[in-house]
Amino acid sequence: MANLFAKKDLPTLMKEAVEVEGEQSLRRALGPLNLLTLGIGAIIGAGIFVITGQAAAQFAGPAIVISFVLAGVACAFAGLCYAEFASMIPIAGSAYTYSYATLGELVAWIIGWDLILEYAFGAATVAVGWSGHLRAFLHDIGLNLPTFPTSDFSLFGMHLHLKYDYVGFLVIMVITTILVIGIKESANFTSAIVIMKVAVVCMFIALAGAFLFSHAWKPNYWHPFIPANTGEWGHFGWSGILRGAGVVFFAYIGFDAVSTAAQEARNPKKDMPLGILGSLIICTVLYILVSGLLTHIVPYAQLNVPDPVVVGMRVAGQQWATFLVEVGALGGLATVMLVMLLGQSRVFYSMSRDGLLWPWAGKIHRRFRTPYLSSIVVGIFVAILATVIPLNVLDEMTSVGTLLAFVLVSAGVWVMRRTHPEINRPFKTPMVPLVPILSILFSGALIIFLSPATQIRLVVWLVIGLAIYFGYGRKHSKVQALESAARTKNVPTMAD
Ligand code: ALA
Repeated sequence: MANLFAKKDLPTLMKEAVEVEGEQSLRRALGPLNLLTLGIGAIIGAGIFVITGQAAAQFAGPAIVISFVLAGVACAFAGLCYAEFASMIPIAGSAYTYSYATLGELVAWIIGWDLILEYAFGAATVAVGWSGHLRAFLHDIGLNLPTFPTSDFSLFGMHLHLKYDYVGFLVIMVITTILVIGIKESANFTSAIVIMKVAVVCMFIALAGAFLFSHAWKPNYWHPFIPANTGEWGHFGWSGILRGAGVVFFAYIGFDAVSTAAQEARNPKKDMPLGILGSLIICTVLYILVSGLLTHIVPYAQLNVPDPVVVGMRVAGQQWATFLVEVGALGGLATVMLVMLLGQSRVFYSMSRDGLLWPWAGKIHRRFRTPYLSSIVVGIFVAILATVIPLNVLDEMTSVGTLLAFVLVSAGVWVMRRTHPEINRPFKTPMVPLVPILSILFSGALIIFLSPATQIRLVVWLVIGLAIYFGYGRKHSKVQALESAARTKNVPTMAD
């Protein structure tokens, strides 16, 4: 009988993390700056460049600034929990690995499966945003992409309208190729673009700030700062701010992706917390400034476009600055896709090494030393998602999946303090259990504020995952095999 709460042995896990040499291991190539840029590279993306405007226009108005603060607070609590785990168990697989050691196999499976929502759906969301920016950019330089082909059909009585975004498909395929070639190359590529992306965001803040300052803070579309509720929950007013927080939460996703690279970090104990919390703090400040300025200079109702920051730049700046924002957004979104696809293939890798997924996902390329098959399969899956599923569905699915992982990881930190108080924790979450409890409450609340359709999709996704676990993972799990071997040894034999 399989034990659904079988746990990975912690001492073995820590040993594995230290002894990562040899043919089948990943390369330890990432220093602290690489990790910080990996974090910022994952965080700043479609959230600020696309979703901010849409969330302001549809849910919160200028009070989207408050939504950003709320979502940032939720992430800070979760980040403090992630940092303790990432410094303590520096091994690939992020939340999945942490929970395997603490909460047992079933919860670990749920998190691993749920992380697909975060990384794969997240990468697909950003690919759709990237495609929208490319279209706008090409239009600005006088080239017009043909409209995407569409088709309409019915499935189980539902009417479906599909738009085939082949640009999203192609960009995912290009990034997958970069990932197959190697992690070090990918990190260097990320560093260069992250600098450009942060520079562009700072440029927007500086130019919009200077514009307002020199025009006696006019125009001022912050009146009303919190538009009145339309009568429907989640559409403006305070409920709109809360719904907006669930939606813009997407903008913060990514700091936890740093933890998936723990096995590739040179000094994980010190640098993981730095990478996670540092990137989160920098991005929070930038988001508050960008969303505040944007809604100050552009009426929020006009921000429901694929490139709201570009619209803001047009109001505040020169044409050259608009052009730079467009280029920065294209590069910036590309790094987010890169980190998310990287995270996804590493989670698959870890799950496969544990026997919960098929062996091909754990295969490392001899020369490139990357989990190439896992990267390729993930790339194709994400490219298909990006091609056919609408942006708002992808965005909310990503948020809900990540929030659930946050809840489970935060619970794991708390459980772990009680069950393994003796373990060395280079970074300690402050005020346990208060911070994990607040993290659970904040993330749980953001799940509740998302749309009911998203919550239903989450349940369907988890049911599919459990079917795979009970059909395959449970029977091939290495931890289960070890446990049953140990049990057999302890059973008294006839000879006794
Ligand atoms: N935080 C990432 C973005 O905004 C997912 O694109």
